[in-house]
Amino acid sequence: VRVPSPQNEPILSYAPGSPERAGLEATLKRMASEQVEIPILIGGKRIRSTRTDTVRMPHRHSHVLATLHEADATHAQQAIQVALEAKDEWARMPFEERAAIFLRAAELLATKYRPVLNAATMLGQSKTAHQAEIDSACEAIDFLRYNVHFAQQLLHEQPTSSAQTWNQTDYRPLDGFVFAVAPFNFTAIALNLSMAPALMGNVVLFKPSSTAALSNWYLMELLREAGLPDGVINMLPGDGPTIGNPVLASPHLGGIHFTGSTPTFQGMWRLIGENISHYKQYPRLVGETGGKDFIFAHASAADDLDALATAIVRGGYEYQGQKCSAASRVYVPESIWPRLKSRLQELIAELRVGDVSDFRNFMGAVIDEKAFKRTSSYIEMARHGGTEAAILAGGEVDRNEGWFVKPTLVQLTNPRHRIMQEEIFAPVVGVYVYPDARFEETLRECDQSATYALTGAVFARDRKAIRQMMDTLRHTAGNFYINDKPTGAVVGQQPFGGSRASGTNDKAGSMLNLVRWTSPRTIKENF
Ligand code: SER
Repeated sequence: VRVPSPQNEPILSYAPGSPERAGLEATLKRMASEQVEIPILIGGKRIRSTRTDTVRMPHRHSHVLATLHEADATHAQQAIQVALEAKDEWARMPFEERAAIFLRAAELLATKYRPVLNAATMLGQSKTAHQAEIDSACEAIDFLRYNVHFAQQLLHEQPTSSAQTWNQTDYRPLDGFVFAVAPFNFTAIALNLSMAPALMGNVVLFKPSSTAALSNWYLMELLREAGLPDGVINMLPGDGPTIGNPVLASPHLGGIHFTGSTPTFQGMWRLIGENISHYKQYPRLVGETGGKDFIFAHASAADDLDALATAIVRGGYEYQGQKCSAASRVYVPESIWPRLKSRLQELIAELRVGDVSDFRNFMGAVIDEKAFKRTSSYIEMARHGGTEAAILAGGEVDRNEGWFVKPTLVQLTNPRHRIMQEEIFAPVVGVYVYPDARFEETLRECDQSATYALTGAVFARDRKAIRQMMDTLRHTAGNFYINDKPTGAVVGQQPFGGSRASGTNDKAGSMLNLVRWTSPRTIKENF
């Protein structure tokens, strides 16, 4: 039986007076007053460690939300053993039974767990209510439902047979375990990294980001309540190399499902290379690793400058610019720049930055001190950039209560300036203004200077210009938007992923991703 294509989970508004607003506010209040202990989770057992860390609110860093128990190499070894013990029964369970667990998780998340996951994402990761809702509620629910749907389609895919011969494809899981390593910026990604391989019958070692550990712990609670058997997904919070090194050295490593920085992924790939002859199989390497995403405007975008300005502001500053898809380099023709610039300055001046529990704020704080310092150093670079750089909006930072950075717009006269090239992962947008006659040359510059190739957006009304942009920028983005911001891919609508230094482009939320977690066996039987 094939279920019909699921619908995307509707986004709740959290308007004042709405029932969801009351529920979320009550949960925020409760969560801000408790101190949660986040354990290591192995085989369903909650394990405490002698090494602990604190989880704090980025927008009020004196406030400790939780104590995090950190795993070491011994925990990692234990988790490998427990996962391998759970593997056979999980892999043998009929697909429909595994799927039912994740569909039940979607239902629980849409109802009971929605305020919990949203509040944890708001307080722990400093997302506004809307940004939390589209991530830890809607996108997470969509991953659960659509992955089941796409997996069903995949399993349905079978070779040709005849009256005398039956050919079958047996979509086996990988022969080992999968190591899922999650970033801080999307709760939904953390869920997908662990659940997609599990849905296909794999067992998983899941390493959350320490700064997102609160929401990620509630994901584990959600899956447990939905009926996920012990040992299928084991959570190992803590230091990357301490956990990763023994895990990557295991001969039973079946694959890694990673979202995070390019250097970390490349480091893992190197280590796997060094160990390559020790593995039972070649590990599957699936990674999404950052971006330096562009918005490129053509002169014909003049017809709707408001749409372009809104895309730059929303694409660049929502969630403090900490989406791997965030717009961070913008190319604008001279003819429209004066009007666009003043519109941008007007819009940016209206953006409120502060505590995300105040629903009027458009932005919270950047994730931690390290991110704050890195961002501040780029802003200083712009401030002391001489004639090459001019700060047109923002530029202020404030670390007193939280790691706050004002939405910052910098004009650069050199398209190869570091602010136009390097991933800052913060609310800093670089703009390069080009002479209209150099449209094609600047398009080529946008492509050739791109080490990353995750997302990008072009703005134009002229069809020929759109065609040229699509051609020249063919390899510059895995997710390409025409007259829209480069963020906010929706599961089931825009499968997500990029190439070059942005990753292996195994589109999250699609059959292309799920197929990576299978090792098909072809069976021929003669009658
Ligand atoms: N999927 C997110 C977006 O499209 C980024 O990871 O914005």
